[in-house]
Amino acid sequence: MTNFLITGGAGFIGHHLAKHLLGMEEEVTIYDCFSDYYSPYLKWRNARDVENLGGTIVEGNILSKKHLARAIYKNKIDTVVHLAAQPGVRYSTENPEMALRINVEGTSNVLSVSRENGVKKVVITSSSSVFGATQYMPMDEEHPTEPISFYGVSKLTTEKLVAVCNHLYPEFDTTILRPFTVVGARQRPDMAINIFISRVLNRETINIFGDGNQTRDWTHVGNMVQAFYLAAIQPKAKQQIFNVGAGTRISVNEVLAIVEEVTGIEPILTYTEMNKADVKDTFADIGKARRLLGYQPKKTISDAVIDFAQYWEEVNYGKLLASEKLIDREFSSTEIFSP
Ligand SMILES: NC(=O)c1ccc[n+]([C@@H]2O[C@H](COP(=O)([O-])OP(=O)(O)OC[C@H]3O[C@@H](n4cnc5c(N)ncnc54)[C@H](O)[C@@H]3O)[C@@H](O)[C@H]2O)c1
Repeated sequence: MTNFLITGGAGFIGHHLAKHLLGMEEEVTIYDCFSDYYSPYLKWRNARDVENLGGTIVEGNILSKKHLARAIYKNKIDTVVHLAAQPGVRYSTENPEMALRINVEGTSNVLSVSRENGVKKVVITSSSSVFGATQYMPMDEEHPTEPISFYGVSKLTTEKLVAVCNHLYPEFDTTILRPFTVVGARQRPDMAINIFISRVLNRETINIFGDGNQTRDWTHVGNMVQAFYLAAIQPKAKQQIFNVGAGTRISVNEVLAIVEEVTGIEPILTYTEMNKADVKDTFADIGKARRLLGYQPKKTISDAVIDFAQYWEEVNYGKLLASEKLIDREFSSTEIFSP
Protein backbone atom coordinates (compact mmCIF):
# COMPACT_ATOMS: atom_id res chain seq x y z
CA MET A 1 0.00 0.00 0.00
CA THR A 2 1.24 3.50 -0.84
CA ASN A 3 0.57 6.66 1.19
CA PHE A 4 -0.38 9.35 -1.30
CA LEU A 5 -0.62 13.07 -0.66
CA ILE A 6 -2.55 14.96 -3.34
CA THR A 7 -2.05 18.72 -3.30
CA GLY A 8 -5.17 20.36 -4.72
CA GLY A 9 -7.02 17.15 -3.85
CA ALA A 10 -10.30 19.01 -3.28
CA GLY A 11 -10.31 20.27 -6.86
CA PHE A 12 -11.75 18.78 -10.03
CA ILE A 13 -8.96 16.40 -11.09
CA GLY A 14 -7.55 15.91 -7.57
CA HIS A 15 -10.75 14.61 -6.02
CA HIS A 16 -11.33 12.16 -8.92
CA LEU A 17 -7.78 10.88 -8.45
CA ALA A 18 -8.28 10.59 -4.67
CA LYS A 19 -11.44 8.51 -5.13
CA HIS A 20 -9.72 6.28 -7.69
CA LEU A 21 -6.75 5.63 -5.38
CA LEU A 22 -9.01 4.87 -2.41
CA GLY A 23 -10.86 2.41 -4.63
CA MET A 24 -7.52 0.68 -5.15
CA GLU A 25 -7.04 0.42 -1.36
CA GLU A 26 -4.29 3.06 -1.28
CA GLU A 27 -3.99 5.58 1.57
CA VAL A 28 -4.87 9.13 0.53
CA THR A 29 -4.41 12.52 2.17
CA ILE A 30 -5.63 15.57 0.33
CA TYR A 31 -3.86 18.87 0.98
CA ASP A 32 -5.82 21.90 -0.20
CA CYS A 33 -6.34 25.52 0.85
CA PHE A 34 -9.89 25.64 -0.61
CA SER A 35 -8.99 28.76 -2.58
CA ASP A 36 -11.81 31.07 -3.66
CA TYR A 37 -10.93 31.08 -7.39
CA TYR A 38 -14.23 29.25 -7.63
CA SER A 39 -16.68 28.23 -4.94
CA PRO A 40 -14.91 26.71 -1.90
CA TYR A 41 -18.28 25.09 -1.15
CA LEU A 42 -17.85 22.85 -4.23
CA LYS A 43 -14.33 21.96 -3.10
CA TRP A 44 -15.50 21.06 0.41
CA ARG A 45 -18.16 18.91 -1.18
CA ASN A 46 -15.48 17.07 -3.17
CA ALA A 47 -13.28 16.75 -0.09
CA ARG A 48 -16.09 15.35 2.06
CA ASP A 49 -16.76 12.70 -0.60
CA VAL A 50 -13.10 11.69 -0.41
CA GLU A 51 -13.25 11.66 3.40
CA ASN A 52 -16.36 9.46 3.32
CA LEU A 53 -14.38 6.90 1.32
CA GLY A 54 -11.61 6.84 3.96
CA GLY A 55 -9.35 9.71 2.81
CA THR A 56 -7.87 12.36 5.11
CA ILE A 57 -8.37 16.10 4.57
CA VAL A 58 -5.62 18.55 5.53
CA GLU A 59 -6.52 22.20 5.01
CA GLY A 60 -3.24 23.85 4.08
CA ASN A 61 -1.45 26.07 1.62
CA ILE A 62 1.49 24.99 -0.56
CA LEU A 63 2.98 28.42 0.11
CA SER A 64 3.60 27.28 3.71
CA LYS A 65 6.58 24.92 3.74
CA LYS A 66 6.16 24.29 7.45
CA HIS A 67 2.54 23.24 7.16
CA LEU A 68 3.23 21.10 4.09
CA ALA A 69 6.16 19.39 5.85
CA ARG A 70 3.93 18.60 8.82
CA ALA A 71 1.27 17.04 6.57
CA ILE A 72 3.87 14.87 4.81
CA TYR A 73 5.58 13.82 8.03
CA LYS A 74 2.42 13.19 10.03
CA ASN A 75 0.76 11.11 7.32
CA LYS A 76 3.94 9.17 6.46
CA ILE A 77 3.68 10.12 2.80
CA ASP A 78 5.63 8.10 0.18
CA THR A 79 4.20 9.68 -2.98
CA VAL A 80 3.07 13.23 -3.70
CA VAL A 81 0.87 14.10 -6.67
CA HIS A 82 1.03 17.86 -7.04
CA LEU A 83 -2.13 19.32 -8.58
CA ALA A 84 -2.64 22.48 -6.49
CA ALA A 85 -2.36 25.53 -8.71
CA GLN A 86 -3.80 28.82 -9.78
CA PRO A 87 -5.47 27.65 -13.00
CA GLY A 88 -7.09 29.72 -15.74
CA VAL A 89 -5.26 30.99 -18.82
CA ARG A 90 -7.41 34.09 -19.18
CA TYR A 91 -7.39 34.79 -15.43
CA SER A 92 -3.60 34.86 -15.61
CA THR A 93 -3.71 37.75 -18.10
CA GLU A 94 -5.32 39.93 -15.42
CA ASN A 95 -3.52 38.34 -12.46
CA PRO A 96 -0.07 37.15 -13.59
CA GLU A 97 1.32 37.42 -10.06
CA MET A 98 -1.17 34.80 -8.78
CA ALA A 99 -0.15 32.21 -11.39
CA LEU A 100 3.53 32.90 -10.83
CA ARG A 101 3.42 32.86 -7.05
CA ILE A 102 1.20 29.82 -6.53
CA ASN A 103 2.44 27.77 -9.46
CA VAL A 104 6.15 28.57 -9.29
CA GLU A 105 6.84 29.25 -5.60
CA GLY A 106 4.26 26.64 -4.59
CA THR A 107 5.80 23.94 -6.81
CA SER A 108 9.29 24.81 -5.60
CA ASN A 109 8.01 24.27 -2.03
CA VAL A 110 6.38 20.95 -2.93
CA LEU A 111 9.62 19.71 -4.51
CA SER A 112 11.95 20.77 -1.70
CA VAL A 113 9.67 19.80 1.20
CA SER A 114 8.98 16.39 -0.38
CA ARG A 115 12.67 15.69 -0.94
CA GLU A 116 13.67 16.83 2.54
CA ASN A 117 10.99 14.66 4.16
CA GLY A 118 11.82 11.36 2.50
CA VAL A 119 9.06 11.30 -0.13
CA LYS A 120 10.02 8.69 -2.72
CA LYS A 121 8.08 9.97 -5.70
CA VAL A 122 6.63 13.29 -6.84
CA VAL A 123 4.34 13.72 -9.86
CA ILE A 124 4.14 17.34 -11.00
CA THR A 125 1.25 18.69 -13.08
CA SER A 126 2.23 20.94 -15.93
CA SER A 127 -0.07 21.76 -18.87
CA SER A 128 -0.33 21.72 -22.65
CA SER A 129 -0.29 25.53 -22.28
CA VAL A 130 3.52 25.35 -22.13
CA PHE A 131 3.53 24.86 -25.92
CA GLY A 132 1.87 28.11 -27.01
CA ALA A 133 0.93 28.34 -30.70
CA THR A 134 0.81 24.91 -32.31
CA GLN A 135 3.72 24.40 -34.71
CA TYR A 136 2.79 20.85 -35.74
CA MET A 137 0.22 18.23 -34.79
CA PRO A 138 -0.08 15.92 -33.01
CA MET A 139 2.17 17.60 -30.43
CA ASP A 140 4.81 15.32 -28.99
CA GLU A 141 6.98 16.03 -25.95
CA GLU A 142 9.64 17.66 -28.18
CA HIS A 143 7.24 20.29 -29.57
CA PRO A 144 8.72 23.80 -28.94
CA THR A 145 7.59 25.44 -25.70
CA GLU A 146 6.78 29.09 -26.31
CA PRO A 147 3.80 29.89 -24.06
CA ILE A 148 1.49 32.77 -24.99
CA SER A 149 -0.09 33.17 -21.53
CA PHE A 150 1.31 33.95 -18.07
CA TYR A 151 -0.27 30.69 -16.91
CA GLY A 152 1.75 28.83 -19.57
CA VAL A 153 4.92 30.62 -18.44
CA SER A 154 4.23 29.63 -14.83
CA LYS A 155 3.82 25.96 -15.82
CA LEU A 156 6.92 25.99 -18.03
CA THR A 157 8.88 27.45 -15.10
CA THR A 158 7.70 24.59 -12.88
CA GLU A 159 9.04 22.19 -15.52
CA LYS A 160 12.42 23.97 -15.32
CA LEU A 161 12.39 23.65 -11.52
CA VAL A 162 11.88 19.91 -11.89
CA ALA A 163 14.71 19.72 -14.46
CA VAL A 164 17.09 21.40 -11.98
CA CYS A 165 15.98 18.98 -9.24
CA ASN A 166 16.64 16.05 -11.58
CA HIS A 167 20.13 17.43 -12.27
CA LEU A 168 21.04 18.15 -8.65
CA TYR A 169 19.34 15.14 -7.03
CA PRO A 170 19.32 12.30 -9.59
CA GLU A 171 18.12 9.81 -6.98
CA PHE A 172 14.95 11.87 -6.40
CA ASP A 173 12.12 10.40 -8.49
CA THR A 174 10.01 12.99 -10.32
CA THR A 175 7.63 12.82 -13.29
CA ILE A 176 5.87 15.64 -15.15
CA LEU A 177 2.46 15.25 -16.78
CA ARG A 178 1.08 17.79 -19.26
CA PRO A 179 -2.71 17.40 -19.29
CA PHE A 180 -4.67 18.54 -22.34
CA THR A 181 -8.13 20.08 -21.61
CA VAL A 182 -9.60 17.80 -18.93
CA VAL A 183 -13.36 17.19 -18.97
CA GLY A 184 -15.93 15.35 -16.84
CA ALA A 185 -18.27 15.63 -13.87
CA ARG A 186 -17.36 18.36 -11.35
CA GLN A 187 -15.26 20.20 -13.87
CA ARG A 188 -14.24 23.74 -12.88
CA PRO A 189 -16.94 26.38 -13.53
CA ASP A 190 -14.59 28.41 -15.77
CA MET A 191 -14.23 25.61 -18.32
CA ALA A 192 -16.06 24.93 -21.55
CA ILE A 193 -18.08 21.77 -20.86
CA ASN A 194 -19.31 23.12 -17.51
CA ILE A 195 -20.30 26.44 -19.09
CA PHE A 196 -21.89 24.82 -22.17
CA ILE A 197 -24.05 22.38 -20.22
CA SER A 198 -24.98 24.72 -17.36
CA ARG A 199 -26.00 27.40 -19.84
CA VAL A 200 -27.88 25.07 -22.15
CA LEU A 201 -29.83 23.55 -19.25
CA ASN A 202 -30.58 27.05 -17.92
CA ARG A 203 -31.60 28.18 -21.45
CA GLU A 204 -28.90 30.87 -21.37
CA THR A 205 -26.68 32.19 -24.16
CA ILE A 206 -23.20 30.73 -24.64
CA ASN A 207 -20.49 33.15 -25.73
CA ILE A 208 -18.01 31.46 -28.08
CA PHE A 209 -14.58 32.97 -28.61
CA GLY A 210 -13.64 32.68 -32.27
CA ASP A 211 -15.73 30.82 -34.86
CA GLY A 212 -15.94 27.54 -32.95
CA ASN A 213 -13.68 25.76 -35.41
CA GLN A 214 -10.79 25.79 -32.96
CA THR A 215 -9.96 22.28 -31.78
CA ARG A 216 -8.96 20.70 -28.50
CA ASP A 217 -7.77 17.34 -27.33
CA TRP A 218 -10.56 16.91 -24.78
CA THR A 219 -9.36 14.43 -22.17
CA HIS A 220 -11.88 12.63 -19.98
CA VAL A 221 -10.89 12.95 -16.31
CA GLY A 222 -11.06 9.13 -16.03
CA ASN A 223 -8.22 8.89 -18.56
CA MET A 224 -6.29 11.59 -16.74
CA VAL A 225 -6.60 9.80 -13.42
CA GLN A 226 -5.29 6.62 -15.04
CA ALA A 227 -2.23 8.55 -16.30
CA PHE A 228 -1.53 10.05 -12.86
CA TYR A 229 -1.67 6.64 -11.22
CA LEU A 230 0.60 5.06 -13.83
CA ALA A 231 3.07 7.96 -13.57
CA ALA A 232 3.18 7.42 -9.80
CA ILE A 233 3.85 3.68 -9.89
CA GLN A 234 5.71 2.99 -13.15
CA PRO A 235 9.53 3.00 -12.64
CA LYS A 236 10.05 3.94 -16.32
CA ALA A 237 8.34 7.26 -15.60
CA LYS A 238 11.30 8.51 -13.54
CA GLN A 239 12.51 11.95 -14.71
CA GLN A 240 10.25 11.86 -17.76
CA ILE A 241 7.71 14.31 -19.20
CA PHE A 242 4.46 13.00 -20.73
CA ASN A 243 1.79 14.68 -22.83
CA VAL A 244 -1.56 13.31 -21.71
CA GLY A 245 -4.63 13.68 -23.90
CA ALA A 246 -7.17 11.47 -25.58
CA GLY A 247 -5.08 11.57 -28.77
CA THR A 248 -8.02 13.05 -30.72
CA ARG A 249 -8.84 16.54 -31.96
CA ILE A 250 -12.44 17.79 -31.83
CA SER A 251 -13.72 21.30 -32.57
CA VAL A 252 -15.80 23.43 -30.21
CA ASN A 253 -18.66 23.33 -32.75
CA GLU A 254 -18.56 19.50 -32.73
CA VAL A 255 -18.68 19.53 -28.92
CA LEU A 256 -21.69 21.85 -29.02
CA ALA A 257 -23.41 19.32 -31.29
CA ILE A 258 -22.71 16.59 -28.71
CA VAL A 259 -24.11 18.84 -25.96
CA GLU A 260 -27.28 19.33 -28.04
CA GLU A 261 -27.59 15.59 -28.64
CA VAL A 262 -27.14 14.72 -24.96
CA THR A 263 -29.41 17.42 -23.52
CA GLY A 264 -31.93 17.56 -26.37
CA ILE A 265 -31.70 21.36 -26.24
CA GLU A 266 -30.35 23.54 -29.03
CA PRO A 267 -27.66 25.91 -27.63
CA ILE A 268 -28.18 29.67 -28.05
CA LEU A 269 -24.83 31.04 -29.26
CA THR A 270 -23.08 34.38 -29.69
CA TYR A 271 -19.60 34.73 -31.10
CA THR A 272 -16.82 37.15 -30.14
CA GLU A 273 -13.15 37.47 -31.03
CA MET A 274 -10.64 34.83 -29.95
CA ASN A 275 -8.77 35.77 -26.80
CA LYS A 276 -5.08 36.52 -27.43
CA ALA A 277 -4.00 34.09 -24.71
CA ASP A 278 -5.94 31.23 -26.37
CA VAL A 279 -4.24 28.84 -28.76
CA LYS A 280 -6.07 27.76 -31.91
CA ASP A 281 -5.59 23.99 -31.67
CA THR A 282 -4.28 21.33 -29.32
CA PHE A 283 -3.75 17.67 -30.15
CA ALA A 284 -1.58 15.40 -28.03
CA ASP A 285 0.76 12.77 -29.36
CA ILE A 286 0.28 10.19 -26.60
CA GLY A 287 2.72 7.64 -28.03
CA LYS A 288 5.28 8.11 -25.25
CA ALA A 289 2.64 7.77 -22.51
CA ARG A 290 1.34 4.61 -24.19
CA ARG A 291 4.83 3.12 -24.54
CA LEU A 292 6.38 3.92 -21.16
CA LEU A 293 3.33 4.15 -18.89
CA GLY A 294 0.96 1.72 -20.57
CA TYR A 295 -1.58 4.58 -20.76
CA GLN A 296 -4.75 3.65 -22.65
CA PRO A 297 -7.42 6.35 -22.86
CA LYS A 298 -10.82 4.67 -22.87
CA LYS A 299 -13.33 7.43 -22.24
CA THR A 300 -14.41 10.03 -24.77
CA ILE A 301 -15.67 13.58 -24.90
CA SER A 302 -19.21 12.19 -25.30
CA ASP A 303 -18.80 10.27 -22.01
CA ALA A 304 -17.64 13.50 -20.36
CA VAL A 305 -20.66 15.47 -21.63
CA ILE A 306 -23.02 12.74 -20.39
CA ASP A 307 -21.22 12.58 -17.01
CA PHE A 308 -21.35 16.33 -16.53
CA ALA A 309 -25.01 16.61 -17.58
CA GLN A 310 -25.92 13.80 -15.16
CA TYR A 311 -23.99 15.46 -12.36
CA TRP A 312 -25.70 18.78 -13.08
CA GLU A 313 -29.13 17.16 -12.92
CA GLU A 314 -28.32 15.06 -9.85
CA VAL A 315 -27.27 17.96 -7.67
CA ASN A 316 -29.46 20.53 -9.38
CA TYR A 317 -26.23 22.42 -9.69
CA GLY A 318 -27.61 25.50 -11.41
CA LYS A 319 -30.21 26.21 -8.74
CA LEU A 320 -27.82 25.44 -5.94
CA LEU A 321 -25.34 27.97 -7.24
CA ALA A 322 -27.93 30.63 -7.90
CA SER A 323 -29.69 30.26 -4.58
CA GLU A 324 -26.62 30.17 -2.39
CA LYS A 325 -24.53 32.66 -4.41
CA LEU A 326 -21.70 30.20 -4.48
CA ILE A 327 -19.85 31.68 -7.39
CA ASP A 328 -17.67 34.60 -6.47
CA ARG A 329 -16.61 35.35 -9.98
CA GLU A 330 -18.74 35.44 -13.11
CA PHE A 331 -17.45 32.94 -15.64
CA SER A 332 -19.66 34.11 -18.46
CA SER A 333 -17.33 33.11 -21.24
CA THR A 334 -15.76 29.87 -22.33
CA GLU A 335 -12.28 28.87 -21.41
CA ILE A 336 -11.73 26.69 -24.39
CA PHE A 337 -8.02 26.22 -24.13
CA SER A 338 -5.91 23.93 -22.04
CA PRO A 339 -5.57 25.39 -18.58
N1 LIG B 1 -8.50 21.02 -15.84
C1 LIG B 1 -7.71 21.04 -16.91
O1 LIG B 1 -8.15 20.96 -18.05
C2 LIG B 1 -6.21 21.13 -16.73
C3 LIG B 1 -5.40 21.07 -17.89
C4 LIG B 1 -4.01 21.19 -17.74
C5 LIG B 1 -3.46 21.30 -16.49
N2 LIG B 1 -4.28 21.34 -15.38
C6 LIG B 1 -3.66 21.44 -14.07
O2 LIG B 1 -4.21 20.38 -13.27
C7 LIG B 1 -4.25 20.80 -11.91
C8 LIG B 1 -5.65 20.64 -11.35
O3 LIG B 1 -6.56 21.40 -12.14
P1 LIG B 1 -8.13 21.40 -11.84
O4 LIG B 1 -8.80 21.69 -13.11
O5 LIG B 1 -8.50 20.21 -11.04
O6 LIG B 1 -8.24 22.73 -10.94
P2 LIG B 1 -9.02 23.01 -9.57
O7 LIG B 1 -8.96 24.49 -9.40
O8 LIG B 1 -10.34 22.36 -9.56
O9 LIG B 1 -8.09 22.31 -8.49
C9 LIG B 1 -6.95 22.96 -7.95
C10 LIG B 1 -7.02 22.85 -6.43
O10 LIG B 1 -5.84 23.48 -5.90
C11 LIG B 1 -6.22 24.17 -4.72
N3 LIG B 1 -5.24 25.23 -4.47
C12 LIG B 1 -5.08 26.38 -5.18
N4 LIG B 1 -4.08 27.10 -4.63
C13 LIG B 1 -3.60 26.39 -3.58
C14 LIG B 1 -2.59 26.62 -2.63
N5 LIG B 1 -1.86 27.76 -2.64
N6 LIG B 1 -2.37 25.68 -1.66
C15 LIG B 1 -3.12 24.55 -1.62
N7 LIG B 1 -4.11 24.28 -2.49
C16 LIG B 1 -4.34 25.20 -3.46
C17 LIG B 1 -7.60 24.73 -5.02
O11 LIG B 1 -8.31 25.05 -3.84
C18 LIG B 1 -8.22 23.59 -5.82
O12 LIG B 1 -8.96 22.73 -4.99
C19 LIG B 1 -3.72 22.23 -11.89
O13 LIG B 1 -2.34 22.17 -11.63
C20 LIG B 1 -3.96 22.71 -13.31
O14 LIG B 1 -3.08 23.75 -13.64
C21 LIG B 1 -5.63 21.25 -15.50
